[in-house]
Amino acid sequence: MIEDFDVGSDWHVAAPYDFLRRLRQDRPVFRSEHLGAYVLTRYADVRAAYGDPRRFSSKGSLTISRSLTRETKEKLGEHGSFLSSFVANVDPPDHTRLRRSVSRAFTPRAVAAMEQAFRRLNEELLDRLEARGRADFVSEIGHEPSIKLTARFIGVPEADEAFVQAHVKDWFQLFLSPQPPDRQLELADSFLTYLDYVDRLVAARAKDPQDDFTSLMTSLIGAELTHREVVELISTILLGGNDTVPNQLGNAVLRLLREDAWPVPPELVPNAVEECMRIDGAALGSFRYAVTDVTSHGVTIPAGSLVLLSTDSAAHDESVFPDPERFLIDRPNAAEHMVFGYGIHFCVGAALGRLQLRTALEVLGRRLPRLRFVAGEPIAYRRSLVGRGLAALAVEW
Ligand code: HEM
Repeated sequence: MIEDFDVGSDWHVAAPYDFLRRLRQDRPVFRSEHLGAYVLTRYADVRAAYGDPRRFSSKGSLTISRSLTRETKEKLGEHGSFLSSFVANVDPPDHTRLRRSVSRAFTPRAVAAMEQAFRRLNEELLDRLEARGRADFVSEIGHEPSIKLTARFIGVPEADEAFVQAHVKDWFQLFLSPQPPDRQLELADSFLTYLDYVDRLVAARAKDPQDDFTSLMTSLIGAELTHREVVELISTILLGGNDTVPNQLGNAVLRLLREDAWPVPPELVPNAVEECMRIDGAALGSFRYAVTDVTSHGVTIPAGSLVLLSTDSAAHDESVFPDPERFLIDRPNAAEHMVFGYGIHFCVGAALGRLQLRTALEVLGRRLPRLRFVAGEPIAYRRSLVGRGLAALAVEW
């Protein structure tokens, strides 16, 4: 019987639900030695913690697995605490101010305006691939349209897209997952090159504003935001757009193929997206720090402890989602999952993420109605503490 999470093994990301069910039942506040955190698994507890930022703080919560060596820290200098002022990593009142600024770029009108561009990116990709009859969904279909859309939203010129993509991956690894010392130094080099690039982009937009996120945020420097905050926002949103949406899309396509639900009729797409997010979420949860001692279900979480709010478990909580391991394309309350978080840090890109997932399923379903797995190819997930995404998915049509 499994007694703890094990980030190094496949079941942790691919199929943790039996374990999570037992935790919800028997140990709803679970101390995980492996994660070095208390884990909340019941829907009501996860929601209550998200809704209580005074007791469950976000300050520094994103940089949990940072384990940089002295040499790496020296190399990074003042940038060693990168992300310290990122919107998801701070509490009010800083959060309130940052969130207000970021939200200016995600108005419903601005998001809706991206649909056409995203549709076109998907159509163009398929124009190139369709005749081939097979592809790796993850590397050849799922990522490209989202990466290009995000680059345009931010204002990265097309010629720089590949450069930015390579460096975004590097800094994410450096700050959010433990790395051996030599690799840290390599990643630190890459990160400094990337920071320099973002700095130059900000300087270029300060001089000559365009219709993009970087220009809008740059115009707020001095009034609402600091230069550092703008650089962190741009860097992190490039990452948010590059990775989470394609991961969720891959999970959704895998699920729909397995359930024999491909292609999804257009009128069912919005709810199918929610049910796919609920049952195979691309985010596994959010970390917080307990500000005071918190006692719940007879367990005291000491002040200062790291706490994982397991949205992955909450999305499978049988008291909210009956028969939770069953995929129901028309499940009435599928959208009540918290895969986009909840409360003051609720994902600012949720509408944009949903728009991309719906558009992609619609276009792919219409263009590749006979999509199926390539028999015999293994299905593997990337190893991760906080995200669920496939490493590869061989498909044919
Ligand atoms: C399916 C795709 C996505 C998933 C599953 C996802 C998930 C999440 C989650 C769980 C949070 C809450 C973090 C916390 O409470 O600690 C969050 C926050 C955030 N997300 Fe997303 N996200 C997605 C797409 C995006 C996109 C496309 C963008 C931007 C283009 C974005 C930008 C952000 C930002 C800036 C925050 C911080 C908000 C705040 O702290 O107030 N996300 N996301």
